[in-house]
Amino acid sequence: MGRWTLDDIPWDRFDRSKLDPDVVRIVKAASLVECNGGAYAHHLCQIFHDDPDFQRTARRWGEEEIQHGRALARWAMLADSSYDFAAAFERFQAGFRIDFDRDVSCRGSRSGEMIARCMVEVGTSSYYSALRDAVREPVLKEICRNIAADEIRHYKLFYENLTRCLESEPIGFWRRLRVGFGRIAEAQDDELACAYHAANETTGPYDRRRHSRAYERRAFALYRERHVRHIVAMAFKAVGLSPHGRLARVASRLAWSAMRYRVIRLKKAVA
Ligand SMILES: [Fe+2]
Ligand SMILES: [Fe+2]
Repeated sequence: MGRWTLDDIPWDRFDRSKLDPDVVRIVKAASLVECNGGAYAHHLCQIFHDDPDFQRTARRWGEEEIQHGRALARWAMLADSSYDFAAAFERFQAGFRIDFDRDVSCRGSRSGEMIARCMVEVGTSSYYSALRDAVREPVLKEICRNIAADEIRHYKLFYENLTRCLESEPIGFWRRLRVGFGRIAEAQDDELACAYHAANETTGPYDRRRHSRAYERRAFALYRERHVRHIVAMAFKAVGLSPHGRLARVASRLAWSAMRYRVIRLKKAVA
């Protein structure tokens, strides 16, 4: 299991006066996505079917992701007593399905799979760091502090395994780049939008564009420039580029401008 448990969270310090309704909505969505960790761990065990050491690591990782979901769900139910996590998770699973029953990675190789996993941890570590820094509610701040530390450790774990995989299964720079940035682009796929819908709406149809925008408008607004720098540095490292070179600095400035522009546009669209 992880290095912390739900018993380590100071639940009695929960402060309703510091709640932000937009944060409650995105935390509910995150609780559902994190609880899919077990299915992703199962998929990794299939891909690394002849590697019992990594399978153990993957199962432990999956348990930690599920714990993230449980902590966030418990907090969301404190913040909103009408939130029915079990029913929301059922809606999410009915609406979002991934083919986990393959024993080969859709990234083309084990190295590719590790690059994609690194990118997911880049996204989650920066997201929980941004959430930790933005929220005022003390219990959520503590949960996010713990989760962000886990997600950075997860990145290191997958990066180390990537280094090992590349020795037996080398893939070229352009392929690494394509897999890595392809996975970042997938962040806009159905998973988060569908989770946002399942967590926040008990009636009404799922609309990918609408729910994706509703999620992004609330989530992207949390980021500051340092979080984007962190995303670029870790993503560059995973694809084999210098994490702190000139290119990384330029990419970081461009990514930060693009994110600010996107937030402004999304806010204008609902104004
Ligand atoms: Fe997580
Ligand atoms: Fe993680």
